[in-house]
Amino acid sequence: MIKSIIAAKSDNNVIGKDNDLVWHMPADLKFFKNTTKGHYVIMGRKTFESMNGPLPNRTHIIITRKLDYEAEGCFVVESIEAAFKIAEEKLLDEVFILGGAEIYRQTIDKADKMYITEIQSTFEGDAFFPEIDKSYWNEVKREAHEADEKNPHPYAFVEYLKR
Ligand SMILES: NC(=O)c1ccc[n+]([C@@H]2O[C@H](COP(=O)([O-])OP(=O)(O)OC[C@H]3O[C@@H](n4cnc5c(N)ncnc54)[C@H](OP(=O)(O)O)[C@@H]3O)[C@@H](O)[C@H]2O)c1
Repeated sequence: MIKSIIAAKSDNNVIGKDNDLVWHMPADLKFFKNTTKGHYVIMGRKTFESMNGPLPNRTHIIITRKLDYEAEGCFVVESIEAAFKIAEEKLLDEVFILGGAEIYRQTIDKADKMYITEIQSTFEGDAFFPEIDKSYWNEVKREAHEADEKNPHPYAFVEYLKR
């Protein structure tokens, strides 16, 4: 099973602020939706609560230390290992790790693949993506886009594979 991180980060590695995103980039939302559609997605409790309920057409695995946490229609687990175990038991080809910062930090060394949207600007934030160590991660694909009327920052869809 391929464990894939998917994230959008700025040039200074910001991924969020006040438990929300800090940019409006519909092209990235579309990419995210198309890439994760139909798949199992793993996320921290705070990222889950930053969304307006579960994302359609995806199966959610929420990680929390709160033993009584409930989210209708979602798996709730107490560790990253337990999240991967559910995905393994379902015999999935690929599982997506959706963040946020705490979860990326704890899974970047366990993941096989990363889909990173570079939002090519700097932002203030309080949630950060870990530094990508290029001696472990090989950039295998890059699709660059200019800013346009709907997407105010230049951006690139980048894929990395573990070396
Ligand atoms: N740009 C992007 O691609 C992207 C993607 C996702 C999220 N974000 C942003 O990231 C921010 C949220 O990130 P965050 O770091 O604050 O929160 P998070 O990683 O989403 O969730 C943290 C929570 O996960 C649980 N958790 C973490 N590690 C655990 C472990 N080892 N075992 C059990 N439970 C564990 C804990 O939940 P309990 O407190 O319930 O125990 C912890 O409080 C927001 O600003 C969001 O918008 C951005």
